[in-house]
Amino acid sequence: MKVANNILELFGKTPLVKLNHITKDIKASVYAKMESMNPGASVKDRIGLAMIEDAEKRGLLKPGGTIIEATSGNTGIGLAITSAVKGYRCIFTMTEKVSMEKRRYLQALGADVVICPMTAKHDSPENYVNVAKRINTETPNSLFIYQYNNPSNPDAHYHTTGPELWEQTQGKITHFVGSLGTGGTVSGTGRFLKEKNPEIKIIAADPYGSIFKTYKESGVMTEGTPYLVEGIGQDMLPENVHFKYIDEIINITDKESFHLSRRMGREEGIFSGGSTGTNLAAALRVAKDLDKNGLVVFIVCDTGERYLTKHHSDEWMREKRLLEKDKTTLGVVHQTKLSGGLPNMIFASPEETVGEALARIEQYNVSQIPVIEGNRSVGSLDEADIMSMILEDPATVEKKVSEIMGKAYPVVDESEDIKHGIQYLKESSAILVSQYGRIVGILTRYDVLDFV
Ligand SMILES: Cc1ncc(COP(=O)(O)O)c(C=O)c1O
Repeated sequence: MKVANNILELFGKTPLVKLNHITKDIKASVYAKMESMNPGASVKDRIGLAMIEDAEKRGLLKPGGTIIEATSGNTGIGLAITSAVKGYRCIFTMTEKVSMEKRRYLQALGADVVICPMTAKHDSPENYVNVAKRINTETPNSLFIYQYNNPSNPDAHYHTTGPELWEQTQGKITHFVGSLGTGGTVSGTGRFLKEKNPEIKIIAADPYGSIFKTYKESGVMTEGTPYLVEGIGQDMLPENVHFKYIDEIINITDKESFHLSRRMGREEGIFSGGSTGTNLAAALRVAKDLDKNGLVVFIVCDTGERYLTKHHSDEWMREKRLLEKDKTTLGVVHQTKLSGGLPNMIFASPEETVGEALARIEQYNVSQIPVIEGNRSVGSLDEADIMSMILEDPATVEKKVSEIMGKAYPVVDESEDIKHGIQYLKESSAILVSQYGRIVGILTRYDVLDFV
């Protein structure tokens, strides 16, 4: 029979998948290492198992013992799955930044979850790592796993992720991209690949606000600032970040991370978390300068299902002001103007007298009107211009509109973006909006400015 004896046998050995659409202008190949296909749907399953088995071997974990860990969720899931199979209890500390999906997942696997304030810095007793340390001292027969300095964390990647990538690419990998949370993925995989071929470039993707890039490049420790991507970046230096295996650190914004994670679902069918978007952004940045021999692998850290109420929700993205402004059409601007109670288009015909047109301008209290013949924009009338013409020659009121009218306003379809309208309004004081080829309204500079 082809069966697994338990779920732990299915950890690792994840596939590599080529990207085909997001990379369409790139000559190099870009592959996704599908860590989201682990049983716990993240890259952290590997270390959950490795850190527990290492503790067992070293006699640190006794039957019936309690595992304690500070986690952004995924390591907790790897530990909880392993503990479910092996019969340990788990207590996890997490910050309130972590998605509800991850908290519920851990509880569903039988773990206890303690939520700590996101604002507590690494030296505060309320910080989630310090709370985990305290619970460890208060709980008999417990082990604080501490993925940040636990050598089994990078070792797991040195023994599994690195060799898998080497084998899967038949040694052709040229660039490896991962992000730094504890540093385990990048340090362990990087060490293995560098030992195989020191020419392979190891790239770490890091959110703006995290301290890693500045530290690597200048040796200066800065204060971290908040960002929204979960699980990566730090305001301190974990021992498992081994800078000697890292060639370059690339900073990525929350916005780019989330948008690329969303795009990868839509364009490649690969549903991922925000840190995967961070990795993909760095991978694309590296890949765009490579020729066809470039082979870039990036880590798909976890599944997007963990963030359905976060960056995969339009409402959340809008609330965080991360959604690109939707296209605003001139039709929308025009509808907004009409809903404000302003009259629809007032116009003159070329055959009527200036006096008649002026009366309409005054009746509706507008300052300029188009001159329309049939359905064509043939000219324009500006109240101030007419007034000065009449002051100079009172007989102007008897003239035909066609004799004195100014330049016709451009006609722009209502489906056009407001940006196009603005371009026209640099030259012309108003534009006419058309719908299915029929002129339906006028937008002046004032109307568009009011909308913007
Ligand atoms: C979602 C997510 N992505 C990436 C990482 C980074 O992995 P590592 O801790 O191996 O640096 C983590 C770590 O917690 C994570 O939770």
